[in-house]
Amino acid sequence: MKLRLLHKVAVALLVLSLYEVAEGTKKPAKTTYIIHMDKSNMPTTFADHLEWYDSSLKSVSDRADMLYTYNNALHGFSARLTAKEAELLGKQPGILSVMPEERYELHTTRTPEFLGLEKSEALYPESNLASDVIVGVLDTGVWPELKSYDDTGLGPVPSTWKGSCEVGKNFNSSSCNKKLIGARFFSKGYEAAFGPIDESTESKSPRDDDGHGTHTSTTVAGSAVPEASLFGFASGIARGMATRARVAAYKVCWLGGCFGSDIMAAMDKAVEDGVNVMSMSIGGGTSDYYRDTISIGAFNAMAQGILVSCSAGNGGPSSKSVGNVAPWITTVGAGTLDRDFPAYVTLGNGKNYRGASLYSGKSLSGPIPLVFAGNASNSSSGELCFSGSLVANKVAGKIVVCDRGGNSRAQKGVVVKNAGGVGMILTNTEYYGEELVADAHLLPSAAVGQKAGIEIKKYIFSDPSPTATIASGGTEVDVQPSPVVASFSSRGPNPLNPQILKPDLIAPGVNILAGWTGALGPTGLDSDKRHVNFNIISGTSMSCPHVSGLAARLKAAHWEWSPAAIRSALMTTAYTKYKNGETIEDVATGSSSTPFDYGAGHVDPMAALDPGLVYDTTVDDYLRFLCALNYTSDLIKRSTNREFTCDSSKKYNVEDLNYPSFAVPMETASSKTGGVGASSTVKYTRTLTNVGSPGTYKVSVSSQIPSVKILVEPESLTFNTMGEKESYTVTFIAGSMPSGTTSFASLKWSDGKHSVGSPIAISWT
Ligand SMILES: *[C@@H]1O[C@H](CO)[C@@H](O)[C@H](O)[C@H]1NC(C)=O
Ligand SMILES: *[C@@H]1O[C@H](CO)[C@@H](O)[C@H](O)[C@H]1NC(C)=O
Ligand SMILES: *[C@@H]1O[C@H](CO)[C@@H](O)[C@H](O)[C@H]1NC(C)=O
Ligand SMILES: *[C@@H]1O[C@H](CO)[C@@H](O)[C@H](O)[C@H]1NC(C)=O
Repeated sequence: MKLRLLHKVAVALLVLSLYEVAEGTKKPAKTTYIIHMDKSNMPTTFADHLEWYDSSLKSVSDRADMLYTYNNALHGFSARLTAKEAELLGKQPGILSVMPEERYELHTTRTPEFLGLEKSEALYPESNLASDVIVGVLDTGVWPELKSYDDTGLGPVPSTWKGSCEVGKNFNSSSCNKKLIGARFFSKGYEAAFGPIDESTESKSPRDDDGHGTHTSTTVAGSAVPEASLFGFASGIARGMATRARVAAYKVCWLGGCFGSDIMAAMDKAVEDGVNVMSMSIGGGTSDYYRDTISIGAFNAMAQGILVSCSAGNGGPSSKSVGNVAPWITTVGAGTLDRDFPAYVTLGNGKNYRGASLYSGKSLSGPIPLVFAGNASNSSSGELCFSGSLVANKVAGKIVVCDRGGNSRAQKGVVVKNAGGVGMILTNTEYYGEELVADAHLLPSAAVGQKAGIEIKKYIFSDPSPTATIASGGTEVDVQPSPVVASFSSRGPNPLNPQILKPDLIAPGVNILAGWTGALGPTGLDSDKRHVNFNIISGTSMSCPHVSGLAARLKAAHWEWSPAAIRSALMTTAYTKYKNGETIEDVATGSSSTPFDYGAGHVDPMAALDPGLVYDTTVDDYLRFLCALNYTSDLIKRSTNREFTCDSSKKYNVEDLNYPSFAVPMETASSKTGGVGASSTVKYTRTLTNVGSPGTYKVSVSSQIPSVKILVEPESLTFNTMGEKESYTVTFIAGSMPSGTTSFASLKWSDGKHSVGSPIAISWT
């Protein structure tokens, strides 16, 4: 499906560029722009803002269509304009910016037990207040008939709710209930770019034709469904993280992608509707804050007390691949669960390899001839099993070895099957390492790691008539070590502001079971005619809603906490080590991971409930952070929708943003005037707020790093009352190290009962 989408985009771009080159006389192409208006500077000649917006638009184009007007996420509107019109509009008075719309991508039941929620249900009850929390999920919509949206036992819809259940194709007002309390769809930007929605392939309504949005929203707050499984895999009770919270679905992603004007409209509405948490498993760029739709919308949501949780991206294990990096967003990476779906490969030479699969049909009997796709194709990249690339008489009746990458894993299975193959071994290349992602393939299959892949190919190339068998191993639990950081999970350092550590934390995102659409089979391929109520998929798209749901539970327990306080509680209580004291492993390297991979660590919901102290951050703190970035008043207004003038007599420091983690970029000697051997000193200031009992906290810094001296002042902080604030500074004195060097430590405040931890990541640029 993705391929088809990409194809569609490619055609559209091609048409556009041809048009621009060849047709100077025809009307120039229009694209969607988001126009940010300076609301407080409306000329007095206008009666209201709408009239002003309309008049501004008409002044550059009498035929331009206004797609949306925005009132919360930013003040302004979106419209289709030519480049010339956009330029003219940008010069009108009272207009802050005219931004071309960005395109965004989706970041595609054992979880409660793994997170320690199940056995501690009595300790961590979801109070009646829990059912007052509303989570807005911006995604591909919702499949409302699933049992996961059953509202049995829930009271009336919270009185704070101002949203609605929008009616459309295959979706009517009875699709919503006391669990799914709202559903809206935003398609104007999509249709402006792609033309009218073809209702034979997708519903112009909140209905989910993709599966992604149903999976994420049931992960956030799905009701408990007993005997859930995917073809018997991962069977058990499926439930969301916050089973009593309410869900509001905002469909912003379509088969052709997610468009900035639609996302902005949904964020705008979600604020107005009264959500408490926004969950967005949507890929953000790392453009400056004033250019990034999600960042601008999230700032205004945060200012209304709404926690915005976003996926970090699936660009790992490359460094600096993390997205959605704004400090007012909670950025979530992915780890594994302690659950595997093993599949075993046995070669004709007697060697055995453990892989993974969710294939559920008839298994293969006896040894079957084995062939490497690279030896059975006309294509130069035959090993990747692209559509139509396999030569039928070379693969018929055989198990085919395909390399991972290039196209979807499930698609490769279909390619093998269509060419007459009877089984597939999917081998990781170096890029994927030993990470195994299980898929519900349509033929017997096993995904194996890079090492096994090399040996299997070696066997094929050396044996004149190689054979193999593939056997499924069902579901295995208590797999150790777990969690490990997923290879695909996007990594730091933060490409935009290296002083802010991102991602913030990790949560389960590999082989997650949750609800699925009835419109597509579990592989998401058009050729997959199976129907399932639950599917197992992977991505930071799956880890983000875990944190959104846990944030909803914390909100219910501490209604007065700000989004920053909730994030702080999740981060300072996260763990970075297994019970045996070893650091969480990174599957990409097979060795210890670092704060650039996991941020503050893996979420620990039970501990987050009672963090002792939090790093709170206010709207003004974030505005001062933008001053430290040397943003002008104009750029601040564009980024935050707020008037703020930095005080030119003040020194603002990025290092002083009250963040629960420390990222410390150091300059290398050659880039400094001090020369080789010189040391640099940087100072970070932080303020802790007491949210627990009175007490004295003492600081400790883990294993001093040889090249860096870390000094904390003062070393002890006493809190007498709830809400009391105390500040401290951390000074880093670092010797010169070669560019690219990294060092890690952690800092912990403890009163003997609570442990308030922060990671420290030092890098020499
Ligand atoms: C629309 O509502 C009716 C009840 O009024 C219901 O029977 C029907 O299934 C609904 N249709 C959809 C597609 O939800
Ligand atoms: C199969 O492919 C491998 C790797 O490309 C190559 O080394 C080998 O010679 C090929 N074998 C045959 C029989 O073509
Ligand atoms: C591969 O090449 C052979 C010989 O040129 C041709 O007969 C065959 O159709 C091709 N197969 C595919 C799948 O392209
Ligand atoms: C902001 O400007 C000051 C003074 O010119 C400079 O020292 C500082 O490095 C700048 N900060 C950033 C983040 O660009």
